[in-house]
Formats: sequence, C-alpha cells, structure tokens
Amino acid sequence: MLISKNLGKKVTTGEGEITILDDVSFELNKGKSLAIIGESGSGKTTLLGLLAGLDRPTGGEVHLSSQSVFELTEEQRAKLRKDNVGFIFQSFQLIDGLTALENVMMPLELKGDKSAKKRATEMLEKVGLSHRIHHFANQLSGGEQQRVAIARAFVTEPKILLADEPTGNLDTATGQKIIELMFSLIENLDTTMVLVTHDTHLAERCDDAITLSGGKVINTTFSDTAASVPQQENNMTADSAAAEGAANTSDVSNADSASNTDGASKAGGARAIEGSAS
Ligand SMILES: Nc1ncnc2c1ncn2[C@@H]1O[C@H](COP(=O)(O)OP(=O)(O)OP(=O)(O)O)[C@@H](O)[C@H]1O
Ligand SMILES: [Mg+2]
Repeated sequence: MLISKNLGKKVTTGEGEITILDDVSFELNKGKSLAIIGESGSGKTTLLGLLAGLDRPTGGEVHLSSQSVFELTEEQRAKLRKDNVGFIFQSFQLIDGLTALENVMMPLELKGDKSAKKRATEMLEKVGLSHRIHHFANQLSGGEQQRVAIARAFVTEPKILLADEPTGNLDTATGQKIIELMFSLIENLDTTMVLVTHDTHLAERCDDAITLSGGKVINTTFSDTAASVPQQENNMTADSAAAEGAANTSDVSNADSASNTDGASKAGGARAIEGSAS
C-alpha cells in the first residue's frame, strides 16, 4: 500500500553536499499506522514530503497505491495525491485569505464534490470548531489552525494520511481529544497513516514505529514478530505490500514500547525491508 524503498535525500549547500535522509525502507499495509520519531532535524518532515511526492528524492523509490510515485509525471503525481493522500503539515499551510470553512472545502471542491460545504462543516464540527468556521485562517489561534488542518486532511477520507506533528500545538486536553478523533477516523475509514510525533504515548498508539537520527533509521518497532520476511530483491511489487501478516521486528532494542503497544494482538502493519539495497 505504501512502500519506501532505500529512500534518500542529499542537498547541496554552501558548505557542500549534506545527506538529510539515508536509505530509509519500510512497507506499510493498508489500514496500518506507522509512527516516525526522532530528534529535531533528523529528517522526519523530509521523509513525509518524499512519501507524498511533494519533494523528489536523490535516491530510492516510493510506491503508493500500486504506483511508483517518481516514475509519474508531475501532473499524474498531483492526481495520485489528490485522489489518495491527506497531508497535515507541521506549519499547517492554511490559506490566510480563506475562512476555516473555505480551507476545509478546498480539497473537496478540487474533486468536484457538490456537497463540499456540508461535509466541510461536519468535519469542522468534529474537531470542535463549529463556532469558528467563518474566521479567516489568520484570525485563528495556533491550536485552532492545527485543527482546521486536520479537518482539511480528513475531509476527503484519504486512503493515506501523512501527519506531521498533528498535536504539537495543542494543549493536553485538546490534543487528547484530537488524537482520539484521528484514531477513530482512521479505524473507521481504514486509513493508512504515517504520523510524525515527539510524543511517545502517541507513537505507541501506532502499529509500528521507526526512529530516525541524522537521516538514518536507528530503530524499528514492528508489531508482529511472528512473520519472517524473505529478503526482497529490487523487483518488489506493490502486491507484496498488500500481503497479509507482513511484519517483522528488527532491532527491537525498544522492547518496552513494543510490548506496550500490545503488539501480539495487532496484525502486522509495516516491515523493514533490509538488505534490499544493491
Ligand atoms: N532544502 C534543504 N536544504 C538544506 N537543508 C535542509 C533542507 N531541507 C531540510 N534540511 C535539513 O535537513 C534536516 C532535516 O530536516 P527535517 O525538516 O526533515 O527535520 P525534522 O526531523 O522534521 O525536524 P523537526 O522535528 O525540527 O521538525 C535539518 O537539519 C534541515 O535543516
Ligand atoms: Mg519536522
């Protein structure tokens, strides 16, 4: 369903070439959630941007809904995103000149949805913003903007949700409510989710987790330890992502959090693809 294969990103700066993401591989099955954790600057937002096809990698591949994202034209990639992906940006990226309601209606209108206003209004109610729907984005508090961004990402019922610190600006009580809402939405809609978070409790709610440091995966916690995953060659197809029971634990140095996530009761979500580099 969502595959990252040896994904890498290097950029050239005044000080020369730097690697901001290095050889990141995983597979995430439909309806499963993956937490991306790691210190500031470790490459989390960069990874999400690549998974969405918003940014180009310097190495590796992303497969999304059976399509190899970077083999598509810009236009095809935009359509794939519109049809499949919801994105909650760390910086919200709401449009200031539009109201909360208009911001949430936008992705529905892009799809030609005639009931955009009704659906956007209902979604804003769900995130607790009924009383703010006609405020312009820049008239909202940080936490309110974050909730509008969440509503906008969910309103199209995307198959894949990519969320960058979606509760980073919320107080504990509101954050908790939003987390419950997000998990109930992804469960009801069978959404596949990649969630960047600094919150370890939130990470533990996800099926699987990857820790990044300096752009590299330094730890993985996968929920199903039972399945042993054969080494994949470069001819891996999207079908393999949909294969059942496909999870593997590699380097479970974080055994506490693995057991806290009640791993045994969950079907495998993501698995590391190791040794698939040439
Ligand atoms: N276009 C770019 N040019 C140069 N450096 C970049 C570029 N994009 C990102 N970086 C650097 O890459 C590193 C990873 O950035 P990224 O935004 O992915 O980190 P992050 O893990 O999301 O951090 P945070 O938790 O602070 O949001 C940072 O050191 C950042 O400065
Ligand atoms: Mg970030």
